[in-house]
Amino acid sequence: MVREFILYSRTGRTSGNFKSLYDAGRLDVVYQCILMAIYESYASRRDVLFHAILNGPPDPPKELLIESNLLRDAPPEQGNWERIIRKVLSGKSHPGITVKKNNFQALVETKRNLYVLEKKGIDIWEIEIGENPVFVLGDQIGLPKNEERFALRRGTKVSLGEREYTSAQCICILNYVLDRLKKNLSNH
Ligand SMILES: C[S@@+](CC[C@H](N)C(=O)[O-])C[C@H]1O[C@@H](n2cnc3c(N)ncnc32)[C@H](O)[C@@H]1O
Repeated sequence: MVREFILYSRTGRTSGNFKSLYDAGRLDVVYQCILMAIYESYASRRDVLFHAILNGPPDPPKELLIESNLLRDAPPEQGNWERIIRKVLSGKSHPGITVKKNNFQALVETKRNLYVLEKKGIDIWEIEIGENPVFVLGDQIGLPKNEERFALRRGTKVSLGEREYTSAQCICILNYVLDRLKKNLSNH
């Protein structure tokens, strides 16, 4: 079973010339999401696809895709990921990471079992999560309304509760929920 996360980054820079992840249209938020999506304490997950749609200058939109089973030479520290993100956004390659021209709607259109993360959605514990789920999240500002409407035509609005979490915290919670559900299923 694969789990996928799609992060919509309104301002994430689309080239490798930047001073810091923060200054690059909040690519630090993208890094934090990668961290929560892929790493465990002493290992990394092999079953995650992480997509960030970057809509910042100079060449939007671009998709940054991380395939965790193919990822190599990628310790979790921020400085290391800053180097990797700069490298791939400059057109160089890194195992397990792809950058290409793509937009949010074109990506979402290819997916099934879509869950759109929103505080006012159906409680995560009340829905049945299907095989190979795909979770859509907004960045530090949130999903633009038109993109949310588009994703909701294909998916379910899901809530993690009444508190507002950061995108990275949502991914951490989702990984936890999926891990627990998997454990319960394998006990039956
Ligand atoms: C920092 S929040 C965005 C805040 C923004 N003010 C908004 O209203 O969307 C980042 C993303 O995390 C997700 N999120 C945050 N809290 C959530 C919750 N309690 N349930 C479901 N998703 C949540 C949403 O996808 C949101 O776009």
